[in-house]
Formats: sequence, structure tokens, C-alpha cells
Amino acid sequence: MAVVEIEIRANVAVIQVDNPPVNAISSQIRSGLVEAIEQIEDNNAVDRAILICRGRTFMAGADVREFSQQPQPPHLPEVTAAIEASHKPVTAVIHGQSLGGGLEIALACHYRIALAGSRLGLPEVKLGLLPGAGGTQRLPRLLGAEAALSMIVSGDPVSAEKALESGLIDGLCQLSTENPLADLFEYALDFAQHLDLSETSHRRLSLRSATAPNAGLYDQWRERYTKRQRGVDAPQACIDAIEAATSLPFDQGIARERELFLSLRGSDQSQALQHLFFAERRALRNTGVGTAQARPINCVAIIGAGTMGTGIAMSFANAGIPVTLLEIDPQALARGMDRIASQYAATVKRGKCSQDEAEQRRELIQGTTDYAQLARIDLVIEAVFEKLEVKQQVFEQLDRHCKPDAILATNTSYLDINQIAAVTSRPQQVLGLHFFSPANIMKLVEVIKADRTSDVAMSSVLQQLKRLGKVSVTAGVCHGFIGNRMYQSYQREVGLLMLEGAKPSQIDNALYQFGMAMGPLAVADLSGLDIGYLMRRSLDESKYEQRAFLIHDRLVESDRKGRKSGAGFYRYDASSTANQDDPEVLELIKTIATEQGVEQRSIDTEEIVQRCMLALINEAGHILDEGIAASAADIDLVYCHGYGFPKHRGGPMQLASCWGLAQVEKQIDELARTQGPRWWNASKSLRDAAQKNSW
Ligand code: COA
Repeated sequence: MAVVEIEIRANVAVIQVDNPPVNAISSQIRSGLVEAIEQIEDNNAVDRAILICRGRTFMAGADVREFSQQPQPPHLPEVTAAIEASHKPVTAVIHGQSLGGGLEIALACHYRIALAGSRLGLPEVKLGLLPGAGGTQRLPRLLGAEAALSMIVSGDPVSAEKALESGLIDGLCQLSTENPLADLFEYALDFAQHLDLSETSHRRLSLRSATAPNAGLYDQWRERYTKRQRGVDAPQACIDAIEAATSLPFDQGIARERELFLSLRGSDQSQALQHLFFAERRALRNTGVGTAQARPINCVAIIGAGTMGTGIAMSFANAGIPVTLLEIDPQALARGMDRIASQYAATVKRGKCSQDEAEQRRELIQGTTDYAQLARIDLVIEAVFEKLEVKQQVFEQLDRHCKPDAILATNTSYLDINQIAAVTSRPQQVLGLHFFSPANIMKLVEVIKADRTSDVAMSSVLQQLKRLGKVSVTAGVCHGFIGNRMYQSYQREVGLLMLEGAKPSQIDNALYQFGMAMGPLAVADLSGLDIGYLMRRSLDESKYEQRAFLIHDRLVESDRKGRKSGAGFYRYDASSTANQDDPEVLELIKTIATEQGVEQRSIDTEEIVQRCMLALINEAGHILDEGIAASAADIDLVYCHGYGFPKHRGGPMQLASCWGLAQVEKQIDELARTQGPRWWNASKSLRDAAQKNSW
């Protein structure tokens, strides 16, 4: 069938859209819809129409793939205008998702009905855009400014049930039989047949006026989003467009919406967010494990009831998967179970799930102190203390007690998984899972394929993580895998910059203003300086730049381990304010600089950001050279989902593309000249990328 077809049922024109997989609105659909409306207007046999989609969903938005091409007419605003201008009422019939342009088309229709369970939303803001086909003008005219702000600026969809309550849709078809789509079709025909045709022109939202909200509402939203999404343009533009809806006539409002849309459309921020959207989907597909058949995982066990272990246990329980939580020490187990109970209580308090749901999830987690209880488990994840010997002892136990085809995973941030696999009789079943804390909240998991891990084990775990809603990135074995290995380079530059004269607060502010969720020294204080200290003790000295960590080490040795000890790079007592430099630390930095013969100088924000970012980019290039990461996009996912890298910059590799890859190569070569080649040897991947102008 053509992407848009019309079928006549008595006096009703049924406009059907068919563009798998998600009915994204391509140029063919746009022209098909305009033609369909023209045909219906000319056809005297029909006096009303329904607009319905084939496949799994209503239109899920503009075709994002067309964004990088020259736009082809008709543009979406012309399509929505044509639908709304129809003299014969059109009813949008929604199932699955009605998102972005899909909802804008539905808003241009005279009526909207939906199947129970479907979702409606305007998520453009998440792609650095705003709804550019009248959505910012029609929604406030239908629901009022506040409800429109909440949908458009957050980008979060609402359920069909909520949409009925708010008046976004006019009818809800309940799921009652085995064939909900057939039921929806019958419901839609019946709904259309009962319309009062004299109402059609009143149903055009462009003819309604939107009431101006209370004074200050828009400024409150601007302020909220300045804090919530620092430096991100799209939410602010959405607010401006909605304000235009309540202060200007429709045509002028549409012109303002268009102007704002065009200013966002080609922006670096929007490109970065679209890059992440596709990177997430590619990561789900390209796992590097070919077509290996995944084995079902019906029950899991977690070893270790600390913060990490309990967070991982909750991730599984939240997806309805039973978990056995093992801890040798009964008191530690009791503490872990208490932590889980209080986390669920807090989730209920925040309104994130009901008391019943929380209870069901909690009951899915059963504690034990006995390895014999693991005999039937499909996947075991060890999350004990980060020390090779301790983990190896656990794996010996697991190998003894678990069934032969059980997959054994270690949650580690840098240890050699080959050495852990080697103590078992089943290295093909052993892999690494690097969760991020808090594991029940953070979406990223690095899935580490050791030398002998089988594709089946990888594929089974990746499928399971998808069920948990995680963003999984596959990585090879090396110290720190993708994320922490790069973070070590980032911290190295931070340490060297301090020695060269940048104050801790200056570094933190520069990177925070750039968009990082936290400055690197505030992060170090929060995680505990002793963790890095111990990790470095286990490293060969040739593997890292010792000078860069002398300040960290001296702080730990004088019992300044970070927040937990009341002081680290900063002080954490009643008399100090956040990120305020401590004169003692400034003095220590000066002393170490003198000892090391480093002449201090004044360093500006630009140099701080550039050196830290270039350190990440260059290390990432070496990671690609060694095949540790499969693609530059995977590295960006790791940074944006696990390390607080600003999503609107798309990750370090997208940043390099935005800065210009040839320019980045030149800057790294320059640093090799000024700082020495040890850490600034440009990777082959970067050199190749600079040649072809893409990663
Ligand atoms: N344009 C082009 N392709 C799109 C698309 C869009 N708006 N939305 C989804 N796709 C593609 C995906 O890239 C994926 O392609 P692939 O199979 O080649 O990887 C495929 O459609 C299925 O999408 P996926 O996300 O894997 O399916 P899902 O069922 O998990 O989720 C949606 C479906 C619609 C909820 C989700 O894709 C989504 O949120 N899409 C974006 C919606 C949006 O932002 N619209 C506004 C655009 S301005």
C-alpha cells in the first residue's frame, strides 16, 4: 500500500497511514495527507473522516532522519493547517504513541480519540527542538498555558487516561477483547458517525483564544529550567513560543513558533541530542555478538548487600525479576535489606510508585547467607569489595555452587576480568557488568567481554539489561574499561592544571559552567579521595602520571578523604560554603608545585575546559584504536549516561566533531609539543577521523 491511503466506509473517509516501524512523518506522508484532505473535500459521498495508522503505533513524530536533509515541501505546518481547514471533521484515532508531529497532527484534527494504554506527548525538547507545526499554539488554546508548559517543556508524554481527564482527547476506547485494534476501528467509526457536523468550525483550535496565565508564570518556568537544564536552549524557546500563544493572534504566534523552531533546528545542541537518540538505539542493536541466541534469565542473584549490590538488586526487582541477595555476614545482610526497604519507602513518598508496587518489588528480593541457595540461579552478579583476591574467592565459590550454564558477572570498575574468569571452570560464562551508583537510578551499564566470554552469555545479559531499561555499552578488558579509563585522563589534567596554578574552585566552576553535572574536584570529594588512592597503589607506576595525583595523595595522608571525613579539596563544615577554596589546600598545592619545579601561572577558563576535554577525546581515540569500544557514539553514551557529561553537547566525541576534528587534532599536537608526548600522542582514530571529517 502507499504510505497514505483512503478507504470509504459509507459516509466516512478512512485515512490510513502506513510507514513502519513507527509511522514517522516523512515527506511522502506529508504530501499524502494533504492530498487525502483535498480528495475528501472534493468527494460528495463523504462528510467526515478518521485518521488512523497501521502497525504498532500512531505517528511517533517527524522523521528525524530527514532533519539533516534539505526540507521537502509540504512542510508539517502546511499539513496541520490543511487538516484543520477541512470542512469535514477529521478524528485522529490514536494507538501506541502519538508523539511530536504525530500529536501536532492530532491537535489539528477536529477530534481525538485513543486506545487505552496509548501515550501522547510532544518530546521535541528532548531533541533540542520545539513542536514546530502549531503544537505550541494549539495546545495552550486547548488545555491552557500551564498544562501546555508542563507537556511541552518537559517533553514527557501523558497516558491516554490522563489525556481524557484533561480534555486532550475526546474519547477513550477500552481494551476489552483480544483484538484491540479492530475494536478501536469500530469505536472510531461509531464516534465519527455520532458527530454534530455543525460543530466542525468551533473545533478548530486556531480559532480559539488562549487565556493569559497569572503574571509571572512564564518567568517562573524560565527560572526553573535555567536551573534544571543549565545552558540548554530548547526549553527556553518552548516557553517563549507558548507565551506567544497567549499574547498574540494565532497567525503571529505560528510565525513566532516557526522563527524559534528554525533557530533551534540546525543548532549544535539539537544535533548533539539527535546524535544521542540514534546512538542509544544503535547500542541496542550493535552489540558485537552477532546473531548469538540469548538464553532466558528468569532469576538472578547478587553477591554483596552494600550500596552497589542493593541498587543492582532493586534494578532487577523493579523489572519484576526475582533476586536472591547473598551476604555472608547476617548483620550486613540485614543492613542491606533495611536499605532496600527504606529506598522503596522513599520512592513511594516521592510518588514514583504505589505502596503496593513497592511492596511487590521488595518481596521479590530474598536475602540469604548460604551459597547453596544459588544452585538454580541463571545469572549471578558479584558486587563485593573492589579487590582482585576478594573477587576471585567469591568466584571460586560461585563456580562450585552454581549450575553449569549459569552466567557469572562481576561488577567492577577497573579490575581485570580475565583474571577473575581464570579461577572458574567456565570462563566462557564470565563477564563484567559495570553498574553506576545508584544502580537502581543510573541507566548506564558497561558490559565487559573478557577474552573467553561467549557470545551467548553476552547476548543473554544484554537482552536482560534491555528489559531493565538500561543503556548498555559493550567494552573490552583494560584498566577502567571505557569510562573510568577516560576519567583517569580527565583527572590527570585537573591535577596538572592545579600544579600549574588553577585553583580547585576555578577548575570546578569552569567545568560546571561548561555543563558537567559537577566539577571534578567536588566529585572526587563526594566519592572519597581514598578510593582513587587505593586504586593507584594497585597500579604500576608507569601506568599513570604520578605528579598529577600528588595533591590527592597528600590530602588522603593528612586524613582529608573528602566529604565523609569533613574535608578534602574543600571543607565540609558549618562555617564553609560550597566550592570555596580552603587556604590550607591552596598552600599545599603551592608547596607541591615548588617541590616539583612547576612554575605557577594564571590559567583561564578556556584552557581548563579545553585541556580537560581534549584529554577525554584523546584517550577515547586510543580506546577506539585498541578496539575496547565499538564506536565513538558508544563512548558518548558512556559519558552522557554515566559521568554527568552535558547531553546537549552530545558527549566528548560529538564535542570533537562540533569543534572540528582537524582542529582538535591540531590542538592535541600542540599539547604534545608544550606538555610532552607521553599523554598527548594523538590516536590513529583521531588522525583518521580528522582526515575524513567524521569518527
Ligand atoms: N524518526 C525516524 N526514525 C524513528 C523515529 C523518528 N521520529 N522514532 C523512532 N524511529 C526509529 C528508531 O530509530 C528505530 O529504528 P531502528 O529500528 O532502525 O533502530 C525504530 O524507529 C524503532 O524505534 P525504537 O525506539 O527502537 O522503538 P520503541 O518501540 O522502543 O520506541 C518510540 C518507539 C516512538 C517511543 C521511540 O522511538 C521514540 O521515542 N521516538 C522519538 C519520538 C520523538 O522524539 N518524536 C519527535 C520527533 S521531532
